[in-house]
Amino acid sequence: MEHQKVLVLDFGGQYNQLIARRVRELGVFCDLLPSEMSVEKIKEYNPIGIIFTGGPNSVYEADSPRIDKAVFSLGIPVLGICYGCQLTAHLLGGEVKSASSSEYGKAEVSYSPSPLTEGLPERAVCWMSHTDRITRLPDGFKKIAESDNCPFAAFGDEKRGIYGVQFHPEVNHTQYGTQILKNFLYNVCKATGDWTMTNFVANKIEELKKKLGGKKVLCAMSGGVDSAVAATLIHRAVGDNLTCVFVDHGLLRKFEADEVMSVFRDGLGMNLIKADAGAIFLEKLKGVTDPETKRKIIGEEFIRAFEAEAKKIGKVDFLVQGTIYPDVIESGKGKSAVIKSHHNVGGLPSVVDFKEIVEPLRDLFKDEVRKVGFELGLPKSVVMRQPFPGPGLAIRIMGEVTEEKLETLRDSDYILRDEIAKAGLDGEIWQYFTVITNSRTVGVQGDFRTYENVVAIRAVTSLDAMTADWARIPYDVLEVISNRIVNEVKHVNRIVYDITSKPPATIEWE
Ligand code: XMP
Repeated sequence: MEHQKVLVLDFGGQYNQLIARRVRELGVFCDLLPSEMSVEKIKEYNPIGIIFTGGPNSVYEADSPRIDKAVFSLGIPVLGICYGCQLTAHLLGGEVKSASSSEYGKAEVSYSPSPLTEGLPERAVCWMSHTDRITRLPDGFKKIAESDNCPFAAFGDEKRGIYGVQFHPEVNHTQYGTQILKNFLYNVCKATGDWTMTNFVANKIEELKKKLGGKKVLCAMSGGVDSAVAATLIHRAVGDNLTCVFVDHGLLRKFEADEVMSVFRDGLGMNLIKADAGAIFLEKLKGVTDPETKRKIIGEEFIRAFEAEAKKIGKVDFLVQGTIYPDVIESGKGKSAVIKSHHNVGGLPSVVDFKEIVEPLRDLFKDEVRKVGFELGLPKSVVMRQPFPGPGLAIRIMGEVTEEKLETLRDSDYILRDEIAKAGLDGEIWQYFTVITNSRTVGVQGDFRTYENVVAIRAVTSLDAMTADWARIPYDVLEVISNRIVNEVKHVNRIVYDITSKPPATIEWE
C-alpha cells in the first residue's frame, strides 16, 4: 500500500537530515530532495505537504537557491524553515532585510493561536540562526510568533496552508519544536500517520516477494546492523532462496562470529555459509605494520574469500546491499546510490555473477533500520551493535597483528563492553573499544617485575562519526575496567584513557 509522503526540499542547511528524521519519527514518510526540483516533478511526487529547509544563503545573493513561485499555487501546504521561511516571504511579496548582526542561539518567542501553534504555551524558547530577517509579511499572511529581535518569528496564511518559521523547530533547543512540526503535518497537511515500521516490514516483505519470488539471492553478511536487517527482511520474503556468506576474517570481537551463526543460522534458519578465513588473513598480515597496507590486504582478501564462496553457489539473480538513506542522500542527492563498499569491499559486486542489486533499506535512516530489526525479532546485541570497522581488530592493534595480540585485544575489549553495559552507559556512548598500543612498559604484578603491553581505552560520543568527543566515563567505572583488564587479561600491565576528540584525532587509532 502506498503511504503518504512529505517532500523536504533541501536548501543546504546543516539540520536538513534532522528535519527529515523528525518528520519520519512523527509517523509520516518524507524524502529529502534537492531544492532544484521543478514544479512538474513536485506535482508528480504528489506530497501531502512540502517543507523548505534552512540554508546558508541570503535571498538577495545572485546564486542563492530558488524555487518556482508556482509551488505555492499547487494547493499543497508549505512550511518554510529559516532560509525557507525568508524565501517564502520574499517570493510572495513580503520584505526581507539584511541585518547588521546575526541572531544565533536561544531566544524567547511569544506565540499567537493558529493551526501551527496549537497546544503551545504563550511563550517558549526557540533556536535561532539567521542574519536576514522579515520586515513585512506578504498579503494574506498573519504573524503567529514574535521575539525581541524578530518581529515575524513565525507567520502563516491559514487559508492556503502556507507557513514560515524563522527558528529551527527540528533542533532539541527549540521547546515544543516537535509539536510545531506535528501540527504542520497533522493539522495542516492532514497526515494520517501511516509511516510505521510495522507497516514498513509488512509492505516491504510483500514487495520483495513479488520482486524476488523464485529467484536466487546472495548476501554478504558482516554481522553489522544494516546487512543483518537487510538479510532478515529478504529471508522473510524468499526463505531458502537466499544464501548469506559470512566471511570470518578472524578479526572480529570475542564471540562475535559465534553469535552471527547462532542468531542467523541456528535461530532464524537462514542458509548461512561461514568462510573461515582467519588463518589466511593472519598469514597475509604477517610482518605488516603500516595501517593503509593492512586495510588494503584485508580488503583484497575479503573479496577473495567471498568470491570463493560465491563461485560455489553459481549464478544468482540478485545481490543484496545494505545501503541506507543517508548513503543515498550523500551519493548523488537522491538521484542514484553508489554501491556501498561493505567492509571496504568496493569491488565486491564486480566479482560476483549477478543480474541486479536489491537494496531493501535504501529508504531508511539508521534509527529506522534499528526499529525494523526489533520488529523482525532480532536480538538487542545485533540491533544496537556499535559501528565496527571493516578491517576489524587489525586497525586496533598498532604494529603487527599477531594471534597473541588479538587474544589480548579481544579479552580486554570484552571486559570494557561488559562494564560499560553494567554501568548502563552503552546507550550513550557511540563507540567504545580497547586498542593495543605498540608500547610496552614496566609494571609490578604480584612480586614480579613485568614488561607488558599498554592498552588504551577509546570511547567517544558522536552523532554521525564525522566529529566525535571523548566520552566522560565516570572515574569509578574506569577504575573497575582498568582493574579487571590488568588482572584478568594476559600481557597487559597498564591502561591509559584516550582523551582526544575528532578532529584532530580520528575515532580509530589507525
Ligand atoms: P575514523 O577512525 O575515521 O572512523 O574516525 C569513523 C567511523 O568509521 C569507522 N571506520 C570504518 N568503517 N571500514 C568501515 O566500514 C573502515 O575501514 C573503517 N575505518 C573506520 C569507525 O569505526 C568509525 O565509526
